Amino acid sequence: MTPSDTISLQRPNLPGGHIDLWYSYLDRITNPLQLDQYYELLSAMERDRLARFRPERVRKEYLVARALVRCVLSHYTDVPPHRWNFIAENHGKPVVQSPWEGYGAFNLSHSSGLVICAVAAGGQVGADVESLDRTTTGIPLARRFFSRQEVDFLCRAPEHQWQELFLQIWTLKESYIKAIGHGLSMPLDRFFFTLPDDGPPKLYLTDQAASPQTDWQFAQLRLPSRHHISVALSLEDQNSDIVVHAREMIPLEGVLSGDPVICSAANNWFFLNG
Ligand SMILES: CC(C)(COP(=O)(O)OP(=O)(O)OC[C@H]1O[C@@H](n2cnc3c(N)ncnc32)[C@H](O)[C@@H]1OP(=O)(O)O)[C@@H](O)C(=O)NCCC(=O)NCCS
Repeated sequence: MTPSDTISLQRPNLPGGHIDLWYSYLDRITNPLQLDQYYELLSAMERDRLARFRPERVRKEYLVARALVRCVLSHYTDVPPHRWNFIAENHGKPVVQSPWEGYGAFNLSHSSGLVICAVAAGGQVGADVESLDRTTTGIPLARRFFSRQEVDFLCRAPEHQWQELFLQIWTLKESYIKAIGHGLSMPLDRFFFTLPDDGPPKLYLTDQAASPQTDWQFAQLRLPSRHHISVALSLEDQNSDIVVHAREMIPLEGVLSGDPVICSAANNWFFLNG
């Protein structure tokens, strides 16, 4: 019997419609010994990939992302962080490989000093984070990538809101293409989002624009560090509302925040700690 056979694996103990969103700030991890410990968790393939990254910031982001996803998955089970194996699907979406293939549903994103990992018990989950201070936004970029409906929506909004609305739509779109695993191989104008004042974002497929997709739900969160996060979840039970519990973790050290912050779909987004 191999050691892996002795660990029984249950799906992450999360109700349908719930996402745990874990996040780590790179600048809170400064001890080189800590980074050495993260390196020890990596597979040979991950170490090879790390060796190809040059700028120190990118190396650290990659390393912390690997440590975070490993520690997050281990949070729900007895599998130790170094034992997870990952494989990339056709368009690059990482999933857990043998002997615990398909364990949970998770997705990673990193931007401007933050790494996030969204987890659900099942279904498909996607996550995207961008800094609100990102400057490469605006109508020309929207015209290039967004659907006609989204460009019209942006053009109708006051100019001082363009940056903010652009990033909301951008992260929502990325969360969806990451949830379905297609990544940017899926043209971004094949679908569009509306942002109702009184509820969660809604997804429409461009060729069926009459009604929103009811088997997907989306939520947006914003951290005080001005990171804007969107998450997407395919719902096995279409009647369940999406609920997001966001918690900060330093991999191998533990959870930083006390109680989880809860974001419900009734909010267009939820401001954490403020
Ligand atoms: C997925 C994608 C949209 C992410 O864009 P991004 O905003 O630059 O990056 P993010 O930080 O939000 O997300 C990156 C993470 O998403 C995950 N990811 C990669 N491809 C993914 C996909 N197709 N679907 C879902 N998640 C994916 C990875 O965990 C990645 O982090 P890692 O490289 O540290 O493991 C973009 O990289 C893409 O389309 N890639 C597909 C490339 C492709 O088709 N490759 C085929 C050959 S492998």
